[in-house]
Amino acid sequence: MVTAVAQRLASQRKEIDDTLATFTLSTTQLQEVKAKMRVELERGLKKDTHPTASVKMLPTYVYRTPDGTERGKYLALDLGGTNFRVLVVKIRTGMRNSVRMYNKIYAIPLEIMQGTGEELFDHIVQCISDFLDYMGMKNTRLPLGFTFSFPCNQTDLVSWTKGFKATDCEGYDVVDMLREAIKRRNEFDLDIVAIVNDTVGTMMTCAYEDPKCQIGLIAGTGSNVCYMEEMKNIELVEGDEGQMCVNTEWGGFGENDNIEDIRTRYDREVDGGSLNPGKQRFEKMTSGMYLGEIVRQILIDLTKRGLLFRGRITERLKTKGIFETKFLSQIERYSSHLWHKLRSILQSLGLDSTCDDSIIVKEVCGAVSRRAAQLCGAGMAAIVDKIRENRGLDHLEITVGVDGTLYKLHPHFSTILKDTVRELAPNCKVDFILSEDGSGKGAALITAVIDKYLYAMRFSDETLRDIMARFRREMENGLGGDTNPTATVKMLPTFVRSIPDGSEKGDFIALDLGGSNFRILRVKVSHEKKQTVQMESQIYETPEDIIHGSGSRLFDHVAECLGDFMEKQKIKDKKLPVGFTFSFPCAHSKLDEAVLLTWTKRFKASGVEGMDVVKLLNKAIKKRGDYDADIMAVVNDTVGTMMTCGFDDQRCEVGIIIGTGTNACYMEELRHIDMVEGDEGRMCINTEWGAFGDDGTLEDIRTEFDREIDRGSLNPGKQLFEKMVSGMYMGELVRLILVKMAKEGLLFEGRITPELLTKGKFETKHVSAIEKSKEGLTKAKEILTRLGVEPSEDDCIAVQHVCAIVSFRSANLIAATLGAILTRLKDNKNSPRLRTTVGIDGSLYKMHPQYSRRLHKTVRRLVPESDVRFLLSESGSGKGAAMVTAWASRLADQTRQIHSTSIS
Ligand code: BG6
Ligand code: BG6
Ligand code: GLC
Ligand code: GLC
Repeated sequence: MVTAVAQRLASQRKEIDDTLATFTLSTTQLQEVKAKMRVELERGLKKDTHPTASVKMLPTYVYRTPDGTERGKYLALDLGGTNFRVLVVKIRTGMRNSVRMYNKIYAIPLEIMQGTGEELFDHIVQCISDFLDYMGMKNTRLPLGFTFSFPCNQTDLVSWTKGFKATDCEGYDVVDMLREAIKRRNEFDLDIVAIVNDTVGTMMTCAYEDPKCQIGLIAGTGSNVCYMEEMKNIELVEGDEGQMCVNTEWGGFGENDNIEDIRTRYDREVDGGSLNPGKQRFEKMTSGMYLGEIVRQILIDLTKRGLLFRGRITERLKTKGIFETKFLSQIERYSSHLWHKLRSILQSLGLDSTCDDSIIVKEVCGAVSRRAAQLCGAGMAAIVDKIRENRGLDHLEITVGVDGTLYKLHPHFSTILKDTVRELAPNCKVDFILSEDGSGKGAALITAVIDKYLYAMRFSDETLRDIMARFRREMENGLGGDTNPTATVKMLPTFVRSIPDGSEKGDFIALDLGGSNFRILRVKVSHEKKQTVQMESQIYETPEDIIHGSGSRLFDHVAECLGDFMEKQKIKDKKLPVGFTFSFPCAHSKLDEAVLLTWTKRFKASGVEGMDVVKLLNKAIKKRGDYDADIMAVVNDTVGTMMTCGFDDQRCEVGIIIGTGTNACYMEELRHIDMVEGDEGRMCINTEWGAFGDDGTLEDIRTEFDREIDRGSLNPGKQLFEKMVSGMYMGELVRLILVKMAKEGLLFEGRITPELLTKGKFETKHVSAIEKSKEGLTKAKEILTRLGVEPSEDDCIAVQHVCAIVSFRSANLIAATLGAILTRLKDNKNSPRLRTTVGIDGSLYKMHPQYSRRLHKTVRRLVPESDVRFLLSESGSGKGAAMVTAWASRLADQTRQIHSTSIS
C-alpha cells in the first residue's frame, strides 16, 4: 500500500518534472537563441530583409543621449506600461541631477483600451486636462514628449501590442490622433514634439546619470530593447555618420517560426488566447503580461491531469489574467518552507491549495520566470556583442538602463538575466542600472535634445498625398473661368503651344533675369546636317539698390547691359530677335506682351507691377537710341527650361525650377484653359505654384519659422509655398531654427553670436555643404565656427540634422505639387500609365547633394503609375527662350509676308 502511494507520488512527481523540464534551456539552446536573435537584428536593419524581419529595428531619430546641457519645462505622457501617467518635467540648465518632476497616475479602463481610437485619445486628453488644472498650467503652451510604448514607424503606430486594441489607430499617426483629440476638446493647446518608445525614454533617463548607458531595456508588462546603432548600419535611414537609437521591438522575435523548438504547448495556448495571436511570440515568453498566463495554463493542465488542486478546476483558475506579475514575484519571494505564506497568496487569488499545491505552484512560477530571464539574457547578449563588433572592440564596457515591474519586483529575474548575459557574452562587461524615474523624464529629455520641430516638418506619405490633392484643386481653380479671378495659384497661359520640333534656326539674343544671375546670351541655331546650337553668354550684376529702386532705373540697367553685350558681340548695328526670360508671374495676351502681376523673390522695383515689361524695356532701349532690338517673346524660366530640355527630349512637357524661387509649367489641353479661346491642341501653363497656400490652405503645415521668414520678407503673406521650399529661404529657415535651439540651450551650449543673429548669414549653399555625406560634418564645423559659435561634435550632428529636415521637407513638398501635375497630365491623356520627361533647373536642385534623389524617390512613391525622366537643363533657360523666339519670329515673318502680299 505504502509503496503504491509512493509509486504514485513518484510518477506524479515525474510528470510534473517532465512538464517543467520543457521550460529548462541548456546553454547550447540559449546560445542558439542568441545567434538567431543576432540574425534577426541584422535582417531588421537591412533594407531588403526588413519587410520580412520579425525584429523590426525601428529607427527613432534620436541621435544622441543627453549630455547634461538640456533645459526647459516639458509635459510628458507615459502610456503603455502598467500605469498611464501625466507628468511635468523641469530641467535646469547645465547641471545633472537638476530635474524636478510632478506626476499623476490615471486609470485607463479596459473598455477604453479596447474601444475606439477616438475614445482612447479623448480619454488621454481628458486626463491631460485634469492634470493641467491640478498643476494650474492650462494657459502655458508646453512642449510635450509622449512615451508611447508601442511599435511606431516614426510617428505612425505599426500595431498595438500587450493589452491595447483600440480601433482605427494602427497605421495612423499618433501625433495627429492626439492633436485632433486636443482640437476636439478645444480647451488648451500643446506642442507635440516627440513620440518616444519606453525603452528609449528609459535609456535617456539613465544616460542622463551615466553617459555609458547606450541600451534601454524594458522587462515589464511588455519586453523590448533599444540601443545606439551606427548610422551606416541603419539602411532605412539616409546618412552614414554618427549613431542613432534603434527600437528593436524584439518582442516580435519568433514570428517567423524560428524559435518553435523552444516554445511549449502552454506558450501556444497563451498566444492563441491573446489579443494578437501569432504576434510578439518572444514577448509572450518573457514579459509580465504573459508569464502569469503561462503559469495559469500549466496549472490548469496539471489540475486536469489530477496533479494539482485535487483535480478541481475552479472558476478562479479559469479567469484570464489572475496571475499578475506582482503575484508571480510575491510567490517566488518566499522559499518553499514558508509554504503557509505561499498559501495565503494563493488564497488571496482565490485558489485554495494544500501545502504540496503551493510548493508546486511556486516551482511552476520559478521555471517560467527563469526561462523568461534567460531568454532576455540571450537577447541582450546578442545586442551587446553586436555593439562590441560595431566598434571593433575585443572588450566592451556598457551600461543598460532598465525599467519594468518584472525586473523591479521579481526576486530573481535580474540576477538570472545578468548571469546569462555574462555567460553568453563573456567579452562584454555589462552594467545594469535601474531607471528610478520612469521613462517620462527621458521623453522630456528627448524633447529637449532633438530638435523640437522635427515632427512638424516631417510628413507622412498620407499628408503628402493630401497636399497633392489640395494642389490639384488649386490648379483646377486657376484654370476655371469662374474660379480664376480668386484663385491663388494663377495658372497663367504662356502662349507657347509646343516644344521645339527641330526646325528652329537663326541668330538670337536671350535675356535671363530673375534667378541668381542676370545673364545675356547670344544663341545661334544653325541647320546644316543637323540642328546645332552655339551659345555665348555674360553675367551682369544686379545690385540691390537697382532691383529695389525705381522700375525705370531697373530697365535702364537692363538696356545698358544689353547694349554692352551687343557692343562686345559687335552686333550693335543689327536688330536681332530677343527672347526675354523674365522669371516672375506675368499675364500674357500674346507671346510678346507680359504684364507683371507681382514681384517675387528678391525683386521689388517700383512702378513695374501691372505694366507690360516688353514696353518698359523697349522704352528704355529707345531712350538710349544707340541700338535697336526686337523683343519677340517673354517666357518664364520654367518655360525656358522646359523648352531647353524639350530640345533634347521630345517627351518633355513639364518644366520646373527649384532655385532662388520655385515654380512649374506644363502642357495643358487648350480645352481646359477657360482663359484662352480655342479647344484644339495644347498650351504651356505657368502655374506659379510658389503662391500655393497664400489663401491659408497650408496653414496646418507651416511652422513658426515659416511665419517668421514670411514676416521678414519683401512680400509678406505672398508666395508662402515658395518660402517653405526654395533656395532663397532655406538657409534662413535653418538659421532661425538654430537660433531658437541655441536660445533654449539645445545647441552651442546656449551661445548666440551676433553673426548667428544676422539675417542671411546662413545660406542655402551652406545647407548643401553640410549635407554632403563624407565631409558634411567637417563643413558644419567650418561654417559654424565662422558664425563664432564654437560647435561641439554633437552640435555639428544636430545642425546637419536640422539641415536634412528642412531640405527633406522641401523635396517632399515639391514632390507633392509635381505629383499633382503628373496625375493631371495622366488624366488628360486618359492613359493608365504616364511616361513623361520633366525638365528641371535651379541651384538648389543642382547643388544640394541629396535633393534630387529624394525628390525623384518621393515622386515615384506618390505617383506610382508613372515613368518620369528628370532631365537637368545643362544650359539654363536661355536656349529654350531662343527656341520660343525662333518660333515667334517665324510667325512674325509669315504674318509680314501675308500682310505684304495682301497689300500688293
Ligand atoms: C515605467 C515607465 O517606469 O515602466 C514606462 O515609465 C514603461 O514608460 C514601464 O512602459 C514599463 O514597465 P511596466 O511593468 O509598467 O510595463
Ligand atoms: C538658370 C536659368 O539656369 O536657373 C534661369 O537659366 C533660372 O532662367 C535659374 O531662373 C533658376 O535657378 P536659380 O537658382 O538661379 O534661381
Ligand atoms: C511592447 C511594445 C514595445 C514596448 C514594450 C515594453 O513590446 O511593442 O514598444 O517597448 O512592450 O513596454
Ligand atoms: C518665382 C517666380 C516664378 C519663377 C520662380 C523660379 O516663383 O514668381 O515666376 O518661375 O520664382 O525662378
